[in-house]
Amino acid sequence: DVPGLLDRHGRVARDLRVSVTEKCSLRCTYCMPEEGLPAIPRDELLTPVEIARLVGIGVHDLGIREVRFTGGEPLMRADLAEIIGMTHAAAPAIDISITTNGIGLDHRLPALVAAGLNRVNISLDTVDREHFAALTRRDRLPAVFAGIAAAHAAGLTPLKLNAVMMRQTLAGAPDLLAWALEHGCRLRFIEQMPLDADHSWLRENMVSAEELLAVLRTRFDLVEVGRDDPSAPAEEWLVDGGPSTVGIIASVTRSFCAACDRTRITAEGTVRSCLFGDDETDLRSLLRGGADDPEIARWWRGAMWNKQSGHGMERAGFVPPVRSMGAIGG
Ligand code: GTP
Ligand code: 5AD
Ligand code: SF4
Repeated sequence: DVPGLLDRHGRVARDLRVSVTEKCSLRCTYCMPEEGLPAIPRDELLTPVEIARLVGIGVHDLGIREVRFTGGEPLMRADLAEIIGMTHAAAPAIDISITTNGIGLDHRLPALVAAGLNRVNISLDTVDREHFAALTRRDRLPAVFAGIAAAHAAGLTPLKLNAVMMRQTLAGAPDLLAWALEHGCRLRFIEQMPLDADHSWLRENMVSAEELLAVLRTRFDLVEVGRDDPSAPAEEWLVDGGPSTVGIIASVTRSFCAACDRTRITAEGTVRSCLFGDDETDLRSLLRGGADDPEIARWWRGAMWNKQSGHGMERAGFVPPVRSMGAIGG
């Protein structure tokens, strides 16, 4: 086994998340500004060949065990199948997944699966069409349903749904859970983090895990069963005696930073050691400057060694990162 990507707090990053674009087909208020993010010039985006090379270095030289492609919305890259195919060729043994809003997934899935995609997580905050349109600023709920149905039909399991809990959608949380159970999806609720582009997040407006549990318990019996593995962000709850569970990702009120096993590459090819750390290390220049694999691995290690201990949201004077979620990739 190669030594993993260690940080000074003793954590090892095994889980790689690669953002492939800043573009998105939705404009969720907790993530993107109304007008979208400034476009990344084409020559600043990593190419499929570059992405596959970095993942290969991560796997062969740095002990990475899984890769997830994020965005923005990864399906906005017309060459996503190429990215996945080249990544699969560079690192055939690892699990490849995407986090997507599901729009257009029905059309794209066959090619993505043929290229080597193993799993998808789909964002779905509400099953109420009007609430969906207000939250995402786009009336596209039917397209998301079609994407989920396609992922289900393709047999990609477990099929996870992510729901960021917002004040406006809280009352609909039991309906969303009922829908997920009915459709054989593993739903996870997420506490909203201060990663919106408008910097309008307020701790006192955030729906906490505790508050959500109280609302869910008006309809379901829930018993805590813990995490799938120690570094999993979600804590799982057995629903009505099982076998189904619902997950809660309480990034704010029950931070899991101490067990964090993530390393991130942005769409422009910088290493980001933490969602909340604006310190980034440019690997793209190294790639394009002709650096060999060991040199790139050395810089990546250096970037991760300096990873901060946690998000620091609970500290007085907390300042959110410059990049919003859409520019980091969830
Ligand atoms: P699985 O491998 O399926 O468990 O995927 P995942 O949960 O790692 O990935 P996904 O992209 O579905 O992430 C779910 C949510 O967890 C994201 O939308 C974020 O809100 C949150 N999240 C992901 N990574 C981090 C992280 O490093 N730190 C914090 N605080 N939250 C994170
Ligand atoms: N807080 C928590 N999760 C967020 N996501 C986007 N913005 C935020 C935020 N501010 C999640 C989405 C999606 C993933 C890409 O990131 O729900 O699942
Ligand atoms: Fe890891 Fe940073 Fe996320 Fe905490 S906030 S879980 S340290 S990436």
